[in-house]
Amino acid sequence: MNRIAHVLARAALLVLAAMGAVAVATMGQEKARPARPDPAAWGADHVGQPFPPYVTGDECLFCHRDVGPAWGQNRHQLTIRQAAPDDVSLAALRELPGGDSFADETQFMLGAERVTRFLKKSKEYGKLDLLSAAFSRREGQLKNDDSPAWQTSAFADRCAGCHATAVENKSQAFAAISLDCFTCHGDVPLEHTKDVSRVLLSSKTTEARKVISICGQCHLRGGKSKSTRKPYPNTFVAGDNLFRDFEVDFSDAAFAAAPAIDQHIYLNARDVAVLGHSETTCLNCHDVHGQSTAKHQDLNDAAICSTCHVPQTGNAKLRDGISPSQRLRMHSRVCDY
Ligand code: HEC
Ligand code: HEC
Ligand code: HEC
Ligand code: HEC
Ligand code: HEC
Ligand code: HEC
Repeated sequence: MNRIAHVLARAALLVLAAMGAVAVATMGQEKARPARPDPAAWGADHVGQPFPPYVTGDECLFCHRDVGPAWGQNRHQLTIRQAAPDDVSLAALRELPGGDSFADETQFMLGAERVTRFLKKSKEYGKLDLLSAAFSRREGQLKNDDSPAWQTSAFADRCAGCHATAVENKSQAFAAISLDCFTCHGDVPLEHTKDVSRVLLSSKTTEARKVISICGQCHLRGGKSKSTRKPYPNTFVAGDNLFRDFEVDFSDAAFAAAPAIDQHIYLNARDVAVLGHSETTCLNCHDVHGQSTAKHQDLNDAAICSTCHVPQTGNAKLRDGISPSQRLRMHSRVCDY
């Protein structure tokens, strides 16, 4: 009896093992089955073409008067702004030997929370010179101030595409300082007034992969244009597929190296652009014009939540580096802060 039981048990185990193997094999197939779209497969780009002539913010705001007041306070609009002569950063610059002339020459400022950079118009149209010295707002003092100098190509080579509007590839000249409506809404035809499906990011046009391309053109810091090797996209027009020309490393190692607050951006972009998901984009959580993320608190728990919240705490606890005061200490190699 014992022996028979043993043989039966063995047979049962073998069957189970075989079933297991089948199950594993099917799981493998199931894992492989959802087609992993090639992020570069859809849509078009404007590499090698000029930017389309676009309607400027002043013209948009002539009709969209309700958007104007908040836009004046929006960090996108303010990323580069007229230098405020009484700003603490300029006062610090004046204290350097020869600092008065740098301060007097400064026409624009870039960045207001962590770091402020000083800029002036270049000799060439559509370009800015960047002062090597930077003002850390957290520490209230200058950095890199041993021998400050105006750099003529740094801004065009390394910054312009994400801090100015419509940077032309050949000349590297921008069409406007700071970020105009065009960067997110694209080339808006006048017919959109009767049919809002003709303008991007309207209540009817929030296709996930287009949203990720639009926001990702600047927020996927660390990517590179294949055609120019620059750290910002080549002639990107909202509506294009960013990933046809912009290479982004979505590996786990790249995630780990990104500043803590950038990890959710990488994860969201990978979910949509590489894995083909479309339920969640930046717009489920961010109200861009209102500069608020209040609505994110009402969402259901999902993997992305634990890029910022400690898992199993009901999203009540934040991870290290995520609270606003901790973020001021954040570093970015792309932006030199
Ligand atoms: C790929 C796009 C990209 C490039 C290239 C880029 N930036 Fe940025 N920069 C950003 C984004 C996006 C932010 C906002 C990040 C945030 O607030 O989390 C930012 C923020 C900043 C800030 C901080 C603003 C603040 O006070 O918090 C400074 C200063 C800055 N960038 C300077 C530069 C400089 C100088 C260069 C060129 C050497 C540069 N950036 C290149 C996208 C870029
Ligand atoms: C940084 C990206 C970005 C820029 C730049 C931007 N927008 Fe928007 N806009 C959005 C997004 C995203 C939405 C969808 C609603 C939301 O999340 O705020 C939107 C919605 C709108 C709407 C419809 C909803 C509403 O608030 O009335 C209008 C109108 C609008 N934008 C106009 C403008 C104008 C005019 C400018 C330039 C002065 C501009 N936008 C610049 C991202 C942007
Ligand atoms: C001649 C006036 C006019 C101009 C110029 C104009 N718009 Fe509009 N826009 C409208 C009207 C009218 C609507 C439809 C009604 C509404 O939703 O406000 C609209 C709708 C929109 C929407 C969709 C709102 C929704 O319901 O989701 C967006 C986004 C938008 N415009 C952005 C822009 C941007 C960006 C520019 C500049 C590039 C611009 N508009 C220029 C009049 C104008
Ligand atoms: C053309 C470049 C560009 C595009 C496109 C862009 N951003 Fe930004 N964004 C920036 C820069 C630069 C800053 C930081 C500005 C500063 O503080 O100087 C910023 C700041 C922000 C911030 C922090 C400030 C705030 O409003 O709370 C959020 C959130 C943000 N962007 C979300 C988005 C989303 C969502 C989209 C897509 C709809 C988008 N951005 C599109 C460049 C861009
Ligand atoms: C699941 C919700 C969620 C999604 C999806 C999401 N975000 Fe965020 N994001 C947040 C929250 C919450 C914060 C922290 C805001 C705060 O502290 O006020 C944040 C912070 C940021 C910041 C930093 C602002 C700063 O002050 O440093 C940027 C930039 C940003 N998000 C851009 C994006 C972009 C671009 C996307 C799309 C690729 C995106 N986010 C997708 C919820 C989300
Ligand atoms: C990019 C970072 C980020 C992501 C991603 C994020 N959160 Fe948050 N969350 C915050 C921050 C920062 C706060 C603090 C309040 C604020 O600024 O909005 C917060 C607050 C909250 C709160 C209120 C907690 C309390 O005790 O008051 C809830 C609930 C919440 N988040 C849920 C979620 C859910 C659900 C997700 C995923 C869908 C998520 N969060 C994703 C950053 C994030």
